[in-house]
Amino acid sequence: MEPVPVVLGVGGGIAAYKAAELARALMERGCTVETVMTAAAQEFVQPLTFAALTGRKVITSMFGARTADEVLASSVEHIAVAQRNRVLVVAPATANLLAGFAHGLAGDFLSTLYLAFQGRVVLCPAMNTAMWEHPATQENLATLRRRGDLIVDPEAGELACGTVGVGRLADPQRIAAFVMRALDDRRDLEGETVLVTAGPTREPLDPVRFISNRSSGKMGYAVAEAAAARGARVILISGPVTLPAPDGVTLVHVQTAREMYDAVMSHLDEATIIVKTAAVADYHLADVPPQKVKKTAMRLSLELDPTPDILAEIGRHKHDQLLVGFAAETENVTAEARRKLKSKNCDMIVGNLVSHSDGVGFESDNNEVVLVTRTGETIPLPLASKLVIAGQILDHILKLRLALHASQS
Ligand code: PMT
Repeated sequence: MEPVPVVLGVGGGIAAYKAAELARALMERGCTVETVMTAAAQEFVQPLTFAALTGRKVITSMFGARTADEVLASSVEHIAVAQRNRVLVVAPATANLLAGFAHGLAGDFLSTLYLAFQGRVVLCPAMNTAMWEHPATQENLATLRRRGDLIVDPEAGELACGTVGVGRLADPQRIAAFVMRALDDRRDLEGETVLVTAGPTREPLDPVRFISNRSSGKMGYAVAEAAAARGARVILISGPVTLPAPDGVTLVHVQTAREMYDAVMSHLDEATIIVKTAAVADYHLADVPPQKVKKTAMRLSLELDPTPDILAEIGRHKHDQLLVGFAAETENVTAEARRKLKSKNCDMIVGNLVSHSDGVGFESDNNEVVLVTRTGETIPLPLASKLVIAGQILDHILKLRLALHASQS
């Protein structure tokens, strides 16, 4: 998908700092972000924060220009900003901003932009619970909804004012995913059930220790989010990670390779596409002691048994499902990916070099991979955010399926 131009309106509330995280989350999903801050927002966060994050000038006032020419140019800037962006996201949308939008007030740059804006509008309210529940706010929201604005409701939790209730700005990752779903009108995965595995597994050594690996789950969660945005039913089987569940995805938590195996096998028949991103432990301790192992001065040896190879097992039994494995390699990534493609009877392997530390592979927000396919193609996907890479992997999965069907008919 082409980069989506988004204008982010930041209102004056304590949650303004979270708008910086939202700008980042939108950029990770392939958006360009231009920021407009109200005067009140600038009391909470410096415009420089957004300028540094987005690499773009931040609009802070209607008439900030000095010379007559600049004033003239800036007087139509809200129209230019409205025309060059596809989405206006306002976060935090304060009670005052919502009231202004609902009543068509145009007292500053952001509210003027709102009136001039003809693309999608996503409003993300955040305020104290009493203000949120006040009939004036609720009536303003009803007006805005009726006109077609999309609202990302605030979450419940502890608020900056010390009370607990509804009013906290929705999680920035959730807002960004919502924006992408609102924009991505491709429903090319509708009717598909995509089974994704993500994260590491944890193999216990005793009740307090385990063997695991560096997988954060980001790559797998990105595939799940991207597939759901394009209309798929998604079952995400995840090892222990700290990521929030993507909206609209059925999340199954597991700890060990054996639990992941059982969960995958119990959902396998429902799946039309299987994407095995998880970094499954290859070995485990078969007999885990019931009590914590005591430290001694002696060398400790562990005898480990292989875990079930879930991907290979699916490869042995799959019917007309499309099977995609990953290969995390520290060298010869394409050759190893091709070897695993054959030995595990996959349709595609996503080769991922994980040896270097320049911001790809495990834990990072970005990745750079090579796809090898059953049809003999080798397709490098250059450095991009994991969310963008996830979308590209799905594009290639759909192309591959067409090619496989064509070759069978
Ligand atoms: O989670 P992140 O921090 O975002 O990092 C992403 C990633 C680097 C983990 C991901 O991009 C990746 O490369 N995943 C595969 C990790 C891996 O375990 O690779 P492998 O080459 O050891 O395994 C090959 C394939 O077999 C994988 O699809 C794996 O899920 C599968 N496997 C492995 C062992 C096993 N017992 N069962 C399996 O199904």
